[in-house]
Amino acid sequence: MKEYQKIKGTQDFFGEDALKIRYVEKVASNLITCFGFQEIQTPIFENTEVFIKNVGEESDVVSKEMYTFKDKSDRSITLRPEGTASVARAYLENKMYANNLPLTKLFYFGPMFRYERPQTGRYRQFHQFGVEVYGESSPMLDCDIILSAYSIFSKLGIKNILLKINSIGNIESRKNYSKALRSYFSNNIDNMCEDCRRRINTNPMRILDCKVDKDNPILKNAPNIHDYLTDESKQYFDKVLSYLDQFSIPYEVDYNLVRGLDYYTDTVFEFIIQSDDELNGLAMGGGGKYADMIQLMSDKDIPGIGYAFGVERIIAIMNKQNIWHDLSYKVDAVIIGLDELSKLSGFHLAQELRMHDLNIEMDYNHTTMKQQFKLCDKLNPKYIIIIGEEERKSGIYQIKDTQTKQQVGVKKEEILSYLKNNK
Ligand code: HAM
Repeated sequence: MKEYQKIKGTQDFFGEDALKIRYVEKVASNLITCFGFQEIQTPIFENTEVFIKNVGEESDVVSKEMYTFKDKSDRSITLRPEGTASVARAYLENKMYANNLPLTKLFYFGPMFRYERPQTGRYRQFHQFGVEVYGESSPMLDCDIILSAYSIFSKLGIKNILLKINSIGNIESRKNYSKALRSYFSNNIDNMCEDCRRRINTNPMRILDCKVDKDNPILKNAPNIHDYLTDESKQYFDKVLSYLDQFSIPYEVDYNLVRGLDYYTDTVFEFIIQSDDELNGLAMGGGGKYADMIQLMSDKDIPGIGYAFGVERIIAIMNKQNIWHDLSYKVDAVIIGLDELSKLSGFHLAQELRMHDLNIEMDYNHTTMKQQFKLCDKLNPKYIIIIGEEERKSGIYQIKDTQTKQQVGVKKEEILSYLKNNK
């Protein structure tokens, strides 16, 4: 028989691994709600144009990593490689800007798809938790956004995260900088990869983010964005840093940080994992400000800022730092029925208790004590409820506490409160 296997770069999550994903989602979404964010869920696929227009044609994500296909009506569809472009599309399409609030603050959680070379912390389907804010441009907001990510990491108990931050300037700064890069790289064209040679004309800043040329000294000696920032962008960035200082958020200004997506302006940042294994240096999350993306898609001049983090990477570092709470699956009670009628009574009791948030298991087929205790051994419940002919007649069921080994008779109608009170 043929054995089917999952697609390269994807994962099955079950048992504790599935619980870990839910746990990270819960901690992050609970905390971000305190920062004023509300959830948005967008489709997993969009018209390809949404990503090309916003993430940028020359970015690796769009040019090399997208899962793009034609649907049966010959439309070009793409599985979302990230959330920002989809959320911006939804923000505009649903006219959320008309809600009279100064800011629209949205968060999302879900799978993203990138055709990348699978390796530690890099998958073809992975989960992101992300946030986007529309409506205001302010260094204080930039700091608040970074603070929210930082707070999520500390709520999860994660240590040794380095915040790298940079400013890539506003559009005017970027124009001047692109000009300088174009002339610098044109003089060094012989030593560059094919993609980068093309990018000299199409989008020279993308060269700084090239994975092929990343150790090429030509990149290291390239002009620095900070020499091209306008006074406005410089002052903006200084203010962001001064707010970070006030909250004692440790950071490193990294002039080479340009991020791999085209929509950013001014503040960009990444949270880098520091670890003594292969996770070291990987970005746990990243983001930045994007003043012009909404204008690219509409006639609205509305600035945005956001970030996303990779949930698999969070889980990997939490595994490494051994900081999980006990997530194991806990059964409140297993119900044992010693004959067919008793099993049926147990079945009804199980349904009632489950409706009151108790986790109840039962054996469907067996009626002997020995066989049903096998299930108890496997599930390790807090209680075992035993029903036989005598219990059915008296209406008093036997409840055994598996830790103390004590067994008591409890009236059928009082079992719910007994279990709840002794949970
Ligand atoms: P990004 O840096 O492309 O930014 O991705 C954010 C995070 O997603 C990364 O730091 C990493 O943790 C995780 N990630 C990315 N690719 C993979 C992969 N192949 N396997 C596992 N994890 C991965 C964005 O996606 C932007 N949309 C963030 C943003 C939101 N900027 C503004 N708003």
